[in-house]
Amino acid sequence: MNIRQANKADEDAIWDIFRAVIAPGDTYVFAPNMPREEALAYWFRADTYTYVAESDGRVVGTYILKPNQPALGSHVANAAFMVSPSARGLGAGRRMGEHCLAEARRLGFRAMQFNFVVATNEPAVRLWQQLGFSIVGTLPSAFHHAQRGFVDAYVMFRTLETVV
Ligand SMILES: CC(C)(COP(=O)(O)OP(=O)(O)OC[C@H]1O[C@@H](n2cnc3c(N)ncnc32)[C@H](O)[C@@H]1OP(=O)(O)O)[C@@H](O)C(=O)NCCC(=O)NCCS
Repeated sequence: MNIRQANKADEDAIWDIFRAVIAPGDTYVFAPNMPREEALAYWFRADTYTYVAESDGRVVGTYILKPNQPALGSHVANAAFMVSPSARGLGAGRRMGEHCLAEARRLGFRAMQFNFVVATNEPAVRLWQQLGFSIVGTLPSAFHHAQRGFVDAYVMFRTLETVV
């Protein structure tokens, strides 16, 4: 698997993954019918590093890395990950997570925070815990899950000052 910075030519592949991930309304707050242009504008914002993971020349996942806050909070990174439904459980999420932590360190971030991990999203919660993140807060009923109704969301955090 090859992970590299994304470019304009990856937009179609990223959008395919993005829309498949948001459609069920179970992991991200984005409206399940979010328009393509809005999604790509968010994924390629000026303060954002955008990556894709390729397997056999096909884009199977994408992630973004950015400062979680401006200025005096900008030493803490934030990131978001999406793996194609057809490529789940094959290690792409873990590889991107590890890559992201290395990139964040390389770029000088001191910690990483996920602001909104849906508590029912077991694959994500488990993966982030395995990569050294702790649940530092619970936002009660903060996510309106398309099937389960109002469920909790976690704030997850880890320092980057120790080796992964
Ligand atoms: C979360 C996500 C990125 C994981 O990517 P993935 O490529 O499927 O995960 P991997 O194959 O790398 O698996 C890594 C770990 O994730 C966890 N995991 C993956 N699939 C899982 C499942 N079905 N149930 C429980 N844990 C699971 C496990 O901890 C696994 O490690 P293990 O196999 O050693 O136990 C992917 O499921 C995804 O894109 N989900 C939709 C979007 C999303 O939820 N993004 C994260 C928002 S915080």
